[in-house]
Amino acid sequence: MGMWVPSLLVLLCSAASLISAMSSAAPANNTSSSFSFKDNFDIMWAEDHFKTSPDGQTWYLYLDNTTGCGFQTRQRYRFGWFSMKLKLVGGDSAGVVTAYYMCSDLGAAPERDELDFEFLGNRTGQPYTIQTNVYKNGVGGREMRHTLWFDPTADFHTYSILWNNHHIVFFVDKVPIRVYKNNGRKPNDYFPDEKPMYMFSSIWNADDWATRGGLEKTDWKSAPFVSSYRDFHADGCQWKDPYPACASTTGDSWWDQNEAWSLADAQQEDFSWVGENLVIYDYCKDSERYPKLPEECSL
Ligand SMILES: *[C@@H]1O[C@H](CO)[C@@H](O)[C@H](O)[C@H]1NC(C)=O
Ligand SMILES: *[C@@H]1O[C@H](CO)[C@@H](O)[C@H](O)[C@H]1NC(C)=O
Ligand SMILES: *[C@@H]1O[C@H](CO)[C@@H](O)[C@H](O)[C@H]1NC(C)=O
Ligand SMILES: *[C@@H]1O[C@H](CO)[C@@H](O)[C@H](O)[C@H]1NC(C)=O
Repeated sequence: MGMWVPSLLVLLCSAASLISAMSSAAPANNTSSSFSFKDNFDIMWAEDHFKTSPDGQTWYLYLDNTTGCGFQTRQRYRFGWFSMKLKLVGGDSAGVVTAYYMCSDLGAAPERDELDFEFLGNRTGQPYTIQTNVYKNGVGGREMRHTLWFDPTADFHTYSILWNNHHIVFFVDKVPIRVYKNNGRKPNDYFPDEKPMYMFSSIWNADDWATRGGLEKTDWKSAPFVSSYRDFHADGCQWKDPYPACASTTGDSWWDQNEAWSLADAQQEDFSWVGENLVIYDYCKDSERYPKLPEECSL
């Protein structure tokens, strides 16, 4: 893995965005809700590249040679469980990246925290790659890459993030594919635990780095590229100023109970299987890139 270009999420985080007034009907700081799009999200850019199904339950983001598109939650959350069903761009999707991520900032904040799922498209018949990454105070470089055990363009699958003070777990359907641990030391440089985050989804052209390190370019003859979303679910502590409305170490929410602090046995088995079979890159094993491995790699 030679080429590591900084994630373009930097740019996405900086996309101009208008947050409309928050609904005051929402519960103060602890909410479990399935989301209707118009009540809970704002389009970040290119409203005309966003569509919904007639029943409003499925959302489509379009990428063509003029622009991609993205949306974000109006609310911020600190800790919880966040999930979404996605169906990725099918056919020739080389160069196209679909992202689903959490980020503490709307602007290009150099100190932002971020948790990313990025789905890197490929030529027809070649496998998608999932890249995950974690930023703390603007520092990322913690990529892992996995292949999947199914075709993510054929159907909807659930991609989730569990975030509490003990760990951050990235799930694909019920399977934990990545566990990012906190050693509990405060403050630390690697575990995002202070800043509330928005949820974002977007599609964009990344053919300078995404597919085979940028060798495969987007074929615009296949445009528009469309990714589909359903069933966004946030079960988290909804941030409300002033801090510390979400000082969630009290453990009264399920995502911060003992059982959510580590994987259950069956999850651990799945996780081991993923580790043995599907990991194609792990920054913690890349001693060429990191002659001295980051401290979280030893957890
Ligand atoms: C917000 O969360 C805190 C800590 O979890 C809790 O003590 C408080 O009662 C909550 N407030 C509301 C209005 O739910
Ligand atoms: C973008 O695509 C449209 C439709 O295929 C084409 O007509 C147009 O020339 C393209 N524009 C650029 C800048 O490539
Ligand atoms: C795309 O397919 C090629 C060939 O199978 C593979 O080497 C690569 O890892 C795939 N994914 C990406 C994102 O390049
Ligand atoms: C927060 O929500 C969870 C369910 O998601 C519930 O079990 C818990 O009692 C709630 N806590 C408070 C303080 O409202």
